[in-house]
Amino acid sequence: MQPQCSWTRTHAQMLRPLSHKCSVFSEHWLKAAHSHSHSHSVRRSHNRPTFRATMSTVPTRKESLPAQDGSSQKAPQPLQVAKRLEKFKTTIFTQMSMLAIEHGAINLGQGFPNFDGPEFVKEAAIQAIKDGKNQYARGHGIPEFNAAIAERFKKDTGLVVDPEKEVTVTSGCTEAIAATILGLINPGDEVILFAPFYDSYEATLSMAGAKIKGITLRPPDFAVPIDELKSTVSKNTRAILINTPHNPTGKMFTREELNVIASLCIENDVLVFTDEVYDKLAFEMDHISMASLPSMYDRTVTMNSLGKTFSLTGWKIGWAVAPPHLTWGVRQAHSFLTFATSTPMQWAASVALRAPDSYYVELKRDYLAKKAILVEGLKDVGFKVFPSSGTYFVVVDHTPFGLDDDIAFCEYLIKEVGVVAIPTSVFYLNPEEGKNLVRFTFCKDERTLRSAVERMKEKLRKK
Ligand SMILES: Cc1ncc(COP(=O)(O)O)c(C=O)c1O
Repeated sequence: MQPQCSWTRTHAQMLRPLSHKCSVFSEHWLKAAHSHSHSHSVRRSHNRPTFRATMSTVPTRKESLPAQDGSSQKAPQPLQVAKRLEKFKTTIFTQMSMLAIEHGAINLGQGFPNFDGPEFVKEAAIQAIKDGKNQYARGHGIPEFNAAIAERFKKDTGLVVDPEKEVTVTSGCTEAIAATILGLINPGDEVILFAPFYDSYEATLSMAGAKIKGITLRPPDFAVPIDELKSTVSKNTRAILINTPHNPTGKMFTREELNVIASLCIENDVLVFTDEVYDKLAFEMDHISMASLPSMYDRTVTMNSLGKTFSLTGWKIGWAVAPPHLTWGVRQAHSFLTFATSTPMQWAASVALRAPDSYYVELKRDYLAKKAILVEGLKDVGFKVFPSSGTYFVVVDHTPFGLDDDIAFCEYLIKEVGVVAIPTSVFYLNPEEGKNLVRFTFCKDERTLRSAVERMKEKLRKK
């Protein structure tokens, strides 16, 4: 029997040329793409028709185990997933990554640097390991790191928080998101998301049984549609999830937008969960934390991590800052998700967060140079490039090149040009909304960025 993968009709149609393999779309999968040859998930299907497509066999973990009699015969197993994750249908990222490897493509898809983090932070980790800081940490973080987070939060937002009662250390921002959602959202609670969005929000909200309402941010400026927001937020809303600077668009929420969101939250007694992992990659305007707006701290969980700011995405050190009554829920979930986060890395992270201002100045300067290479390059190639104010992403309109949709374009780009981008339809509740847009990242060294631009200049032709 062949295992079946299913995905949304929309995606399946878009993917027809690639449908020889099942795949997963998640940033996390992408990061692991080189080391995993199999996958077993996921794609959303929100109120849309779905169908099941039979494709070539995808090995499950069980299948790859040797048979008990010692022979190498493998019994195919149907893929299994709990109901709450069933709606996440199979998508295209595995194909993208596999194709990337197959075609030797330059990867401007994956959102992690191809250069290393700073020596002083790596040295601090080595020292902590040598000093024997290797056993379980206190559940909500080692005191040194909680204090460093509180210090940084004060510097960034002006708010004084109690490191013992209002800071929770997590295993990456991903866990902060999970602990916040699972700790504070009840099944059936309404949560508002801005689309496009980082994919783990929707999956985690689904695991919590939340009722998701999406509001779409549209090009060219991806501004918050204020009227739609006003008519969507109500007394039934439990929380709004925001991400600024925003993956994938590079949008930064303006003070005006944040003020509108804040006043709606206060009026309707709504919580805000804010993902600020790109706060130090704010280029065109100053980053504004929702928690710093008047009367907002008491209803806000601010989530962040070390990965982007220190080019150490593999360390998975994150945190959530929230008033004690919300921290309670976050910590309850955290206790049973991971309980504690890597001890020596917390010591090193304490050193990182106390980096001198010059570190952040240099970081921005370096990223501005990378951004200029990619953005100018993409314009020269002929893309319509949308402004990116923060993050290390830029979104472009690929339609001048005549491909049907974002997935077809990305497939063409990998196979015929040798460059990887990310189709954005996967970041929407309704994939149609992202079909003209693809995301590139500039968190790569300058040589890599220039080579990618050269390849595109050479081989991409407007239709
Ligand atoms: C918006 C956003 N939030 C959270 C994360 C995950 O952060 P971490 O690696 O610290 O779990 C990412 C990673 O790509 C991201 O883009």
